[in-house]
This record gives sequence, structure tokens and C-alpha cells, in this order.
Amino acid sequence: MALAALKKAAKLPLHIAALLTTAKDFSRNPVIGNHVLNRMGLHVARVCLAHGIFAFKKMLLSPLATKEQRKAFARDGFVVMENALPPEIFEKLKHDAENYNGEAYQCAQGDTLTWRAVLLDHPVMRDKKTSNLMRYCAGKYERPRFYIQQIQNGFLNNPGDPQKNLHVDCFHPTMKAWLFLEDVEADNGAFTFVPGSHRLTKQRLKWEYDRSLEAANDADSYSARGSFRVEDGTCEKLGLPQPQGLAVKANTLVVANTFGFHCRGKTREKKMTRMEVFAISRINPFNPVPWGCLEGLRDKIYLTMMRKGEKDSVTGKKRASWRKAPPHPVKDAA
Ligand SMILES: [Fe+2]
Repeated sequence: MALAALKKAAKLPLHIAALLTTAKDFSRNPVIGNHVLNRMGLHVARVCLAHGIFAFKKMLLSPLATKEQRKAFARDGFVVMENALPPEIFEKLKHDAENYNGEAYQCAQGDTLTWRAVLLDHPVMRDKKTSNLMRYCAGKYERPRFYIQQIQNGFLNNPGDPQKNLHVDCFHPTMKAWLFLEDVEADNGAFTFVPGSHRLTKQRLKWEYDRSLEAANDADSYSARGSFRVEDGTCEKLGLPQPQGLAVKANTLVVANTFGFHCRGKTREKKMTRMEVFAISRINPFNPVPWGCLEGLRDKIYLTMMRKGEKDSVTGKKRASWRKAPPHPVKDAA
């Protein structure tokens, strides 16, 4: 008993230091999840500080995006760029993705599998027009991590898919991007977003405050770990429009701030796939410096972590979310 209390106390400085990082787990970090501290405004203070710093970095990086793109991102929380890549790069990317045969990982969530291969070097990663927009929306002049990704809806016999519930990813602005390799209809698991839900309005802050008080004990494990699920009726309460599924043509880039309410759309058939290049930039929201020096290194670190996760899962040491997958995407959902 005394030893457990001692161990807990020894970890306290780490839990406190985590306040100035991306850490968001209300159930495992007793400081982040502390009811009294959140009542005093701890969570809301982190949200506000992260948004203030993001606004500053965005301002410094504003030459990377056009006026229209900046306006759309500020208004809606996402930007859609059609015909994003030059045709020759897009065709090469599509060919390389469809014929990929190498190291890949997959994550099971409900009835859906997300299949991914880390891209370490490809012309798509050096395309200026798309890359600049992603960097602006991330608030960081550093290349995001790129993956070839296939969403395999309905491939598992489990109930539901937690990514199809409206949610936020974290407490701070964060960039995710999808470059679609094929047309996506609104009822083929399309990326779905509530326009304007990324804005830090008084109503949104109140929602964040209320959620922070209960999050540590939330029955939904995703919410308890800081990725709040959005209950029915919340959009109406916050004065927001209904979620909008983005039907897009192949070679469309969608860049979003996933602090906004979003989810994976439903599919009209049980088994359906969606093929894309996925990019993500998850950086310390409290670091005001908008450039980085880890370009490329993050990709390798992440790949090493995935390999370690697989090894630990095989030996039974720890269970990883991402496990070794078949080396190529599925050809046909049917
Ligand atoms: Fe998400």
C-alpha cells in the first residue's frame, strides 16, 4: 500500500510536466483528469493557450496558403483542394499505392480495419502546393507523416466502428489530411465534418469545460482518454450546422483541423473500402516555434515504434493497436 502510494507520488512530476505536451488522457493522468483542477479551469486554460499559440504560428506561416485557403480554413475548419497533384505525380502515386507490397500495419476498430504503410520517400511528399497547405494548417513548417492508407469498412465481425461517431481528436488544433486516390461518394465512409466546429466560441469552451469535469470517469474509453465523443444534439446546442459528408473526386486533398467535430461517414454497403494517402502532423501545441528539425526522423521513429509494438504483442509483453498486416491493400471489397 505504502509502496503504491510512493510510486504514485514519484510519478507526479511527470504528470505535471505532461501538461505542456500533447498529453490528453483524463483517466490515466491524475493531474489532467483532476476534477478540482478542471473545475478551476485547468483544461480550459490548456485549450485556450494551445489555440493562442496556434493562431500566432498560423500568422507566421500565412504566406504558405492562398487568401481563399486561409479564409476557408478559418471559417470551416477544413480546406478542399481539387486536382491537387500534377497528373504525373498522382498517377504514379495511385499506381504505387495500389501495387504496394511491403511492410504494412493495421488497426482494428469495431468492424473496420485501417490498413497503413508508412511512406518514407515519394514525390508526393515533395509536392510544394499540397505540402505548403498542410504545413500552414498544421502551424508547423515541417513535413507531416505520410501513409498509404486503406479504410476497410465492415471487414470484421465486431459491432460498430468508434470512428463513425462524431468526435474531436484532442484539445488543441491538429492537422490531418487525406489525398483521395479514388472518387468517394457521401455514402462510402466519406470524411465527415461539422463546418465551423473548430472555432473556439464561448459555447464550445463551455462544452469543453463541462466535458473536462466528467471525462476521467467517462464510460466511453475514447472520451476518457481525451478524444471527446460528441453526443446527439450537441451541434444544435452549440449553434452549429449538421455534419457534412465530403463527396470528392480522385486527386482531391482535404486538410482539416480535427479539433473540429468529425467522423468517418457510414457506408451504404456492409463491406466498402476507401483508398488514400493520409498525412498527420501531431506536434506540441505549446511550442510557439513554427519550424522543426525532425523532418523525416519522425517517420522513422514512428515505424520503429510500430515494429516494437508488433514485437511486444507477439511476445505478450504489451498489446499494440497497430499489428502487422497483409503486405498489400485489398483489391476489391466484394
Ligand atoms: Fe478523429
